[in-house]
Amino acid sequence: MRIVLLGAPGSGKGTQAEMLKTELKIPHISTGDLLRAAVKAGTPLGLKAKAVMDAGQLVSDDIVLGMLEERLAQPDARAGFILDGYPRNLAQCEALQQLLERLQQPVDVALQLVVPGELIVERLAGRAAEQGRKDDTPETVRERLRVYAEQTAPVAGYYEQQGRLTVLDGVGELREVYQRILSALPRRAA
Ligand code: AP5
Repeated sequence: MRIVLLGAPGSGKGTQAEMLKTELKIPHISTGDLLRAAVKAGTPLGLKAKAVMDAGQLVSDDIVLGMLEERLAQPDARAGFILDGYPRNLAQCEALQQLLERLQQPVDVALQLVVPGELIVERLAGRAAEQGRKDDTPETVRERLRVYAEQTAPVAGYYEQQGRLTVLDGVGELREVYQRILSALPRRAA
């Protein structure tokens, strides 16, 4: 099954994808994680991406698409995938569509987790205190939410037009949200 997880920063995409990947036996592919790994490894790409990520802006479409293509070419992605953090603007929607057409692996469903802004700020403040992620400072969270509203929110409309979007309440206990996701999955998508 090929799933695109949508939702604002802090809506729970990464947390839920980690739970789902075990159940569905497909990889969780997070462009944020791929970028953070590149930053940590100090690759030329990572060095370029770091300042952009720390400022809460989007890394260039070309860089992220290249990384994603490489990841999707790995054998474990043939069985399907849970995409988290991509696509993040309409240009990325088109790029993904073309890439997946080439691979003959169309998206089965796009699930959007909806969480109110004040709860997101609270969750990310909690994570900042626990993990110290560089882009979880209050100022950068504000910028990430602004970028989300401006550039990423239209992505849901893209999948809605294709009849592939399901909108889910992302508020509640982890297992509760997880059950909502499971119930929303298409029964027999290959
Ligand atoms: P990315 O890593 O994708 O960050 P994000 O979208 O901002 O997502 P988060 O990881 O903050 O949130 P999440 O929805 O995964 O929530 P999580 O489960 O972690 O991107 C980072 C940066 O990389 C971007 O700003 C950009 O610069 C760059 N980038 C990435 N992809 C890109 C792309 N395609 N194009 C260009 N640039 C790109 O949960 C958050 C917190 O809430 C956790 O502490 C968790 O424990 C808690 N939590 C989760 N669910 C619940 C719940 N139900 N109840 C209570 N707490 C909860």
